[in-house]
Order: sequence, then structure tokens, then C-alpha cells
Amino acid sequence: MTDRIAVVGGSGALGRGLAVWWAGAGLDVIVGSRDESRAHDVAEKLSDLSGRPIEGRSNEDAVIGSQFVVLAVPLVSHAATLTGLRDHLAPGQILVDTTVPLAAAIGGRATRPIMLHQGSAAQQAAELVPDGVEVVGGFHTVAAATLADYGEAIEEDVLLVGNSRDAKRRVAQLVRAIPGLRPVDAGRLDMARIVECLTPLLIGINIRNKVHAGIRITAIPDAEW
Ligand SMILES: NC(=O)c1ccc[n+]([C@@H]2O[C@H](COP(=O)([O-])OP(=O)(O)OC[C@H]3O[C@@H](n4cnc5c(N)ncnc54)[C@H](OP(=O)(O)O)[C@@H]3O)[C@@H](O)[C@H]2O)c1
Repeated sequence: MTDRIAVVGGSGALGRGLAVWWAGAGLDVIVGSRDESRAHDVAEKLSDLSGRPIEGRSNEDAVIGSQFVVLAVPLVSHAATLTGLRDHLAPGQILVDTTVPLAAAIGGRATRPIMLHQGSAAQQAAELVPDGVEVVGGFHTVAAATLADYGEAIEEDVLLVGNSRDAKRRVAQLVRAIPGLRPVDAGRLDMARIVECLTPLLIGINIRNKVHAGIRITAIPDAEW
């Protein structure tokens, strides 16, 4: 397995933003899509922007052999996407779940969360991936619009949740690869139900202030963990 990052839903707003910053940092990135030709088109544009090569493949091909699989699809397709990828995932891979369960997914407001039976999207993911694939929740509070300003300064924390400290440590390296983002260990996977709810809170703040707010946790050491 290589240290490659496969971004499932990489043609979307968050996926594109993460892919371009990671590629710009010299990481090996594949943009995944349901439509391989869309993946190629997006990858080509992001390669031009980052100045580094990015590949484009179908979601299924993208995840095979990639150490990191970043899930960046809407909640409505969360379970179906993971079910479709199940046979392509293998033990040892790390699934980074960025999904925010917003009420907007069922016609409600983007400023309100919805509760999933498992407690959170990340916990739903953990039920759907094969044994041996570690799920880490993260990047929920980083706005795609912030990442879209490629090269502009960012100063935000990224709360990471997961049951494997080693997997979180590895995802923390992906967070640090984007200048100005700092990883914060927010606990075990069941804390995802709280972390995922921060985004609707931020969306309300964004609407009231006409900004793309992020979060910053104070008073914690900046050391490796
Ligand atoms: N946008 C943000 O600021 C932000 C911030 C933090 C977290 N998130 C989370 O990140 C995830 C992606 O958000 P986004 O704003 O990037 O979403 P998006 O742009 O609406 O969609 C991302 C990609 O998902 C694929 N997709 C769309 N509908 C699908 C469906 N019904 N079935 C399967 N794939 C589908 C599409 O790729 P293809 O058509 O190419 O397959 C699309 O480009 C969400 O779960 C969101 O909660 C978003």
C-alpha cells in the first residue's frame, strides 16, 4: 500500500479543496468520481492549480491500494457510496470521514443537524467498512470556500475523532500538510456526534456574519501527539 490519498467525491467542493492543497504539499493524490471522465477533468484542472500531478479515476479504482481514503460525498449518498466501495477497501487503510449530517439532506435547514441511528456519519461509516479499515472523522469545520482560495493563509484547527490513536496520528499528518491547519485529538469515534454538529453551528455563524468561519481550540500545546 502506498501513502496515496484517494478523495472519493473529489470532484466536489470539499474534495477539490483538499486535493489541491495536499497535492501542492507534494502528497500523492487521486481524485475519485462516479464518472471517470469527470475525475480526469477535475484532476487536470487541480494539477494546473497546484503545479503538481493529480490523477483522476473512478471512486472504486481510486481507493484500491490507497493508504488514505477521504470520503467527501453528501450525506444522502454516504451509506450507498461506502457499500459500493466495500469490496475495494482492504485492512490497513484509513477512511477519513468528512460527512456532516445536515437537516438540509432531508429538506430541512443547513443550520440544523440531523441524528443518525448510529450517532454520527463517522460511526455509520465504521459499520460499513470492512474489518481492519480504521475510520477517522475530520475536516468537518473546514469550509470548502476557505480551501478554494488556494495559497491564501488559513488559521484553523481540525478536530479528529477515531478509536485508533495511530490512525489519528497519521491523519494528523495530512492536516499539518495544509499550512495553517492544526490537528486536535478530539477523542474516540463516538465523539463524532458532537464534532459533526459544529458545522451547522458554524453555518449559522457564517450566515449572520457573512464569513467562512473555522474553529480554534485555545490553550493546548502545539506538540506532536
Ligand atoms: N462543502 C463544505 O464546505 C464542507 C465542509 C466540511 C465538510 N463537508 C462534507 O463534505 C462532504 C462533501 O461536501 P461537498 O460540499 O463537497 O459536496 P458536493 O460538492 O455536493 O458533492 C461532492 C461530490 O459527491 C458526489 N456526489 C454528489 N451526489 C452524489 C450522490 N447522490 N451519490 C454519490 N456521489 C454523489 C459528486 O461527485 P461525482 O458526481 O463526481 O461522483 C460530488 O462532486 C459532505 O458530506 C459535507 O457534509 C463539506
